[in-house]
Amino acid sequence: MNLPNLNDARRRTKEKVEILDNYKITEEQKTLGLNKKYFVKTYGCQMNEHDSENIKAILEDMGYTATDNMEDANLIILNTCAIRENAHNKVFGLLGRIKHMKQSKEVMVGFGGCMAQEEVIVDEILNKYKWIDFVFGTHNIYDLPNIIEKSKNKQEIDVFSIEGDVIENIPVKRDSKYKAWVNIMYGCDKFCTYCIVPYTRGKQRSRLPKYIIDEVNELIKDGYKEVTLLGQNVNAYGKDLDIDYNMANLLEDVAKTNIERIRFVTSHPWDFNDDMIDVMSKYKNIMPYIHLPLQSGSDKILKLMGRRYTKEEYIDLYNKLKSKIPNCSITTDIIVGFPNETKEDFQDTLDVVNICKYDGAFTFIFSPRIGTPASRMKDDITLEEKEERLQTLNNLVNKYSKENNDKYLNKIVPVLLEDYSSKNGNYLKGYTDTMKLVNVKADSSYLGKIVNVKITSVKTWSMDGEII
Ligand code: 5AD
Ligand code: SF4
Repeated sequence: MNLPNLNDARRRTKEKVEILDNYKITEEQKTLGLNKKYFVKTYGCQMNEHDSENIKAILEDMGYTATDNMEDANLIILNTCAIRENAHNKVFGLLGRIKHMKQSKEVMVGFGGCMAQEEVIVDEILNKYKWIDFVFGTHNIYDLPNIIEKSKNKQEIDVFSIEGDVIENIPVKRDSKYKAWVNIMYGCDKFCTYCIVPYTRGKQRSRLPKYIIDEVNELIKDGYKEVTLLGQNVNAYGKDLDIDYNMANLLEDVAKTNIERIRFVTSHPWDFNDDMIDVMSKYKNIMPYIHLPLQSGSDKILKLMGRRYTKEEYIDLYNKLKSKIPNCSITTDIIVGFPNETKEDFQDTLDVVNICKYDGAFTFIFSPRIGTPASRMKDDITLEEKEERLQTLNNLVNKYSKENNDKYLNKIVPVLLEDYSSKNGNYLKGYTDTMKLVNVKADSSYLGKIVNVKITSVKTWSMDGEII
């Protein structure tokens, strides 16, 4: 049994990151899932979505086949998120349903992802959820064949709280045939005071450029049109490598592969340098879209959050991006109700939103995460006040989102049609270069194509258009 430990997870040393091919599967393990079905439920960010693509590929290596219906599954895996308390509530809600299922049929249950890296959660599982068959951490995915095999006899818990290595040979089963996630780095060293990620995902470890470029070239061969380069803080890419190579260099090399569309998430304003902006404006296949988390518009709160930039520096960067990258859309993340946030601090946040007029924003009420510095700060704002601030912020964000979308009416924009529209089977959906969701009347022959679409109507969250 390997249990999580927050103190170990916090530690950062100068030890070199190893690049390993640790994923192994025995002939016997390849038969464990034969005639059995798996169901993976994913919570949280794109990193988790992509980890689930690895988990699914490993399960298929073991002989399991996929099902979309949890009730049909012989193996259920929850890939969890620890970033806020409501993610916790959703996961434990579903566990209640699964426990009920387990009483009437034989089903194996696995619990993985960021929540599995938390001591309190694993304690809770050890005490109250003895029926969960196995628990695996974010660093243990490569070892799933062994973990699942061992869990046949007893509850198996494998959570490493190490700083982390880079494991290059984990298989992947991609959810889309046209768009792919490509990890460029793992972990985070920023330690923003509210954030649990540096503890659940270890230290920043950049993949070597050659592995990333090889992966993109393979994707092009397989017909992929779009890659999203993934990391918690992509702008810091390369800083941990002992070669002179940074995110601007990587973006340029990925652009030169000629893949049709390149995106990247998530950016930290502190590491966004001019070279990156220059590369973005030089290559047409780097999409004019940036997710640039603000978190707060108050210098006092930004300092308490450990964000390393001021309101003014953020706005300067925003202006530079808007002026150098034509037609660039910008979205953000904002937290309200951080400890000590006064009405004036909150007004500072609204002021920045009024200046940046974001295309969209994910907004959150501060959620204390055990083990982080912010969870120990005195938090004397009432929940009512926090909810009111969130509502005020959302109204403002939605106003600008709609205003930005309105500018698209009657314009012709490129859209990668990636799937059937969730509302109507005669429609396909896709995203513009600027990451606007568009529904288009089209048959399946258009799937995977980038087409010019004239926008015919506009809403706050999406648009309708017709192919021209
Ligand atoms: N409370 C509320 N929001 C949080 N986020 C991260 N940690 C917390 C927390 N403890 C938000 C940040 C981040 C996004 C992914 O989630 O805005 O950018
Ligand atoms: Fe969390 Fe800050 Fe790292 Fe983003 S940059 S993952 S918010 S610690």
